[in-house]
Amino acid sequence: KEAEAASGSAFKFKEISHGYDATAHVPEGYEIQTLIRWGDKVEAGAAAFDVNKLTVAGQAKQFGYNNDFVGFLPLPFGSKKSDHGLLAVNHEYTNAGMMWAGLPEGDAAELKLSNEQVEIEIASMGMSVIEIKRTNGKWAVVDSSKYNRRLTGSSPFTVTGPAAGHDKLKTKEDPTGLKVLGTINNCAGGVTPWGTVLSGEENFNGYFGGSPETSQWAADFKRYGVTKDSFYSWSQHVDRFNVDKEPNEAHRFGWIVEIDPYDPTSTPKKRTALGRFKHEGANVILNKDGRVVAYMGDDERFEYVYKFVSDGKYDPAKREANMDLLDKGTLYVAQFADDGKVTWIALVHGQGPLTAENGFNSQADILINTRKAADLLKATPMDRPEDVEANTVTGKVYVMLTNNNRRTTEQINKANPRANNTHGHVVEITTADHAATDAKWSILLVAGKPGVDHGAQYHRATSDNGWMSCVDNCAVDSKGRLWISTDGSPSAAGVADGLYAVDTEGMMRGLSQLFFQAPSGAEVCGPWFTPDDTTLFIAVQHPGEDKGSTFSKPSTRWPDFKDGMPPRPSVIAITRKGGGPIAV
Ligand code: FEO
Ligand code: CA
Ligand code: CA
Ligand code: CA
Repeated sequence: KEAEAASGSAFKFKEISHGYDATAHVPEGYEIQTLIRWGDKVEAGAAAFDVNKLTVAGQAKQFGYNNDFVGFLPLPFGSKKSDHGLLAVNHEYTNAGMMWAGLPEGDAAELKLSNEQVEIEIASMGMSVIEIKRTNGKWAVVDSSKYNRRLTGSSPFTVTGPAAGHDKLKTKEDPTGLKVLGTINNCAGGVTPWGTVLSGEENFNGYFGGSPETSQWAADFKRYGVTKDSFYSWSQHVDRFNVDKEPNEAHRFGWIVEIDPYDPTSTPKKRTALGRFKHEGANVILNKDGRVVAYMGDDERFEYVYKFVSDGKYDPAKREANMDLLDKGTLYVAQFADDGKVTWIALVHGQGPLTAENGFNSQADILINTRKAADLLKATPMDRPEDVEANTVTGKVYVMLTNNNRRTTEQINKANPRANNTHGHVVEITTADHAATDAKWSILLVAGKPGVDHGAQYHRATSDNGWMSCVDNCAVDSKGRLWISTDGSPSAAGVADGLYAVDTEGMMRGLSQLFFQAPSGAEVCGPWFTPDDTTLFIAVQHPGEDKGSTFSKPSTRWPDFKDGMPPRPSVIAITRKGGGPIAV
């Protein structure tokens, strides 16, 4: 197997072994630098991090918690510089039991947080932008750069697109329906050709509470999972997260946000044309006719895959001309037929069932309640669509389907081929025209351990270390090679989460090789390559989040390994010792 993999694969490196321990692992000849950790300084004037004295003002200028998406944008804009640029990072959620000494493990809602602790959580979410530079092989954050910026759960955002200003988005604090405070639960994302960053507001429902079942929006709340027993306790402390006090605030989350990291004074936007659901992320590809197409997943069991096609065309000569491309266009949802065909169905007001009789009085109604519209259009329920990303070299689109332990044998179809799918699979979409309403799909791999997990499917040369479980994020390097990272392997498969190099073309299609292993409890996010592939950025999220882990007794103290310091979610840079492109 080793010889066959070594001779035929597009990737050249010595595969590492599956395992589970307190630290991170890379192949022989590679090294890891910790670039930035939760609490490290981002904005000028940030207080020094003291894990025993967290403050709202400090956290609002420090690197946030649970880094997820990572996007590298070269400086200056438009260059292919790979030793200097901006890094945009999402901060998805918090682990209160590991942020504060003395708190037990458990749902944040049950932890009896103080008002201040909730405000610290809100300040630790959102996004960070940092300027970074590589000097003599060492990456570092540029101290007090004008680009360094935190967006938190209370930073101002402007709502744009067809739902902007709609009555359902108006609140007591914002009667215009145009100004939202904060972005939350930002999971994956993408970088646009015009140098902005897209970020998905995913499990926003977990921050709301009150009595949603008696609200005028009860059906809508049910479809989106807004419940009275929310996972976090914010609704007990901050009125706008209590649906009894502010019934419309929940409509203001669940969007794709777009930020311009090159302009630190810009107000980020919530792009309503891309629909409202539990957005994993959005990845843009430039179509052959100049329009831009964003592929997106709604990450929950039996939810859908979407794409947005812009009306306008990308103008490579004029950056400003592209800034609102994502406000006008058509949103589609996917049907995956057993004969290998994908049909993209438009979510357009007045077409098919999307009419007033079904509660849709306008395009805004469709966008605010996208899930209901997609149900009526009979989209194909998938096994938790996570990252959906087009390979900008080959044009193929990869759909990470992380798992679905609720699919029954009766609910199997060819695109979701397993009941009790605990390990997930990857679907590949092929099309010559990303704006078209049809395409073809096939399965790239079915995750799990071959010979043990029913249906697991890879290239036969995949080693005992190359199988994976719970695919989540993916990245494509400059050579068009696919990298897949996982979230959930420890509980589903008994091995640490990792990053896998996966061949997609030729004789070795479906060959998977393990390149990176995370410390215990962590999932692997990002990932992202510099334009020359010499650096791979990875966000190590929730290290130490195993069962039984708390501030005082975590399963790891990565990356500091200091007594009294809990594990810290951190972004790392992986490079080759002595330099050079990765896996060549
Ligand atoms: Fe936040 Fe779908 O992972
Ligand atoms: Ca994810
Ligand atoms: Ca990705
Ligand atoms: Ca995840």
